[in-house]
Amino acid sequence: CGIVGYIGSQNAQDFVIDGLEKLEYRGYDSAGIAVNTGKSEFNIVKKVGRLKNLENALKENPLEGNIGIGHTRWATHGKPSDENSHPHFNKDKTLVVVHNGIIENYLELKKDLVAKGYEFKSETDTEVVAHLLDSLYEGDLLEAVKKLLKIIKGAYALGMMSISEPDRIIAARKESPLIVGLGKGENFIASDIPAILKYTRDVYLIENNEIVEIKKDSVKIMDVDGNEIKRDVTHVEWDLEAASKGGYEYFMEKEIHEQPEVLVKTLNSRVDENYNINFDDAGLTKEYLSGINDIYIVACGTAYHAGLAGKHIIEKKTRIRVDVEIASEFRYRNPVIDEKTLVIVLSQSGETLDTLEAMKEAKKHGARIVAITNVVGSSIAREADHVVYTWAGPEIAVASTKAYTTQMVILNLMAIDFAYKFGKITKDEAVEDIKKLYDVEQSIQKMLEYDEKIKNAADKIKDSESMFYLGRGLDYVIAVEGALKSKEVSYIHSEAFASGELKHGTIALITDGVPVVVNVTQSGLFEKSVSNIKEVTSRGAYVIAIAKEGNTVVEEVADEVFYIPDVEDDYAGFPTIVIHQLLAYYLSKLKGNDVDKPRNLAKSVTVE
Ligand code: G6P
Repeated sequence: CGIVGYIGSQNAQDFVIDGLEKLEYRGYDSAGIAVNTGKSEFNIVKKVGRLKNLENALKENPLEGNIGIGHTRWATHGKPSDENSHPHFNKDKTLVVVHNGIIENYLELKKDLVAKGYEFKSETDTEVVAHLLDSLYEGDLLEAVKKLLKIIKGAYALGMMSISEPDRIIAARKESPLIVGLGKGENFIASDIPAILKYTRDVYLIENNEIVEIKKDSVKIMDVDGNEIKRDVTHVEWDLEAASKGGYEYFMEKEIHEQPEVLVKTLNSRVDENYNINFDDAGLTKEYLSGINDIYIVACGTAYHAGLAGKHIIEKKTRIRVDVEIASEFRYRNPVIDEKTLVIVLSQSGETLDTLEAMKEAKKHGARIVAITNVVGSSIAREADHVVYTWAGPEIAVASTKAYTTQMVILNLMAIDFAYKFGKITKDEAVEDIKKLYDVEQSIQKMLEYDEKIKNAADKIKDSESMFYLGRGLDYVIAVEGALKSKEVSYIHSEAFASGELKHGTIALITDGVPVVVNVTQSGLFEKSVSNIKEVTSRGAYVIAIAKEGNTVVEEVADEVFYIPDVEDDYAGFPTIVIHQLLAYYLSKLKGNDVDKPRNLAKSVTVE
């Protein structure tokens, strides 16, 4: 979800809506705004569906006033509807609340409030905050909020206003991102920086268990008891252009095309001009590594898939055991970890709640946590023992592309670095390996030139109901991510299987014309993979194969072949995934889907 608030001398509605547009990628099943229009109650407009619906409603009835808060929602408690949208308010609409996160004890609180005669209009946990605030309010919103925070449990970023206090917004944070943008004679609150970047680059990053009072000319950060906290201003360096489409039709396309550049950026962040890798600031010294027993990689979604590839590479190069686990499973499973376990958490956003909680769980068991994330200052970055950033830049399309490949870059660098530190490879071998990793830039660049050919391939299969992705070894884990890209944006049922497992069940699903994408890039497994292609073509499958240049024998068995450069097996995943990404992109586009905002998905999932 996304929160935006404005206080100043201008029209609040314009700023709030503009900010919400920038945050729509955080959730977009409904949106709403509340403005203090100087009457006896707030003027509140809420609409289910895309932000456009709200904008249209406001066109007919614009809200006049210079203090307001707004919200875009991704449903958790209660379906997407006008009523369940934020802002929520008390009975006489004198107090309004927007909220990201989950109030865990809301049912219990709701029961008490209902007993006191409060009537609820929505099914949300947030409405509880509005009525609770009402029960605590005695003419001073800040005082009421201080009491409120002692009662509510859970995760939240809250923005609140009272009709009789038109000179301030009160905000609070716990486990859900919140920033304050600093303007001249005006100030902003937001859940994310892009929302306010058009107006200011100076922000305060609000920490857990803090309350903020935002006035036109001042901002005061406090602890939950109201004691003032001094905070340095953070100056944001990146610009909004970087977060907008830059000439491409969709963010997904732009982000796929940015990969060569951001891969090099990410490599350069850890490799010096003499090809030394540096992870010492992340606590991964030779001394520390020689004391670990095993490694866990924990993540969700695409980041989890990067972890699968990471396991493959790290185990192969270092011979140390690596387990990869889905964060939502890991956190409730009492995994076997201790202080001799290195836990690597992967998260593009750094805000995924399951990953954050899994990390806390691992910490409790004494494991050291290294987070690999793309968002500086994100919750995961702050809570981990050490952070390694990917330098992919803001990723806006819901389907992750460049974040995945930069995560793979870091994991590959770790594999090389650990192998060297464990004495498995010499310095020269490490340098060679790093150079080859730099060559990935070129191989990806070449894949981007396939654009038109991939579009044609997509056109042929776009009406399929199901498709399959196959591979062995590294080819298999890349196939898993390829299938996820396809299902996320094309809505075609897409599943990945290990080629060798095909005969144990999946092959029953292969019928005439079913598209099967087969990765055959791993040298040692080539013959076997070719046999697997024959198994499916003989049952009518339409095979799109991805093979290394020179392996023309694949043309004899597949319907269509995309060649990747003859790179080292370990790095073949990079060009291969780019073909999968473009295929998914074109499937989505040709089907007329909303490429960047696939149905039911959100970019950053800050709920369980
Ligand atoms: C959401 C997104 C996925 C993403 C996953 C993990 O489900 O839709 O694209 O892979 O969260 O996100 P993270 O920010 O932790 O990498």
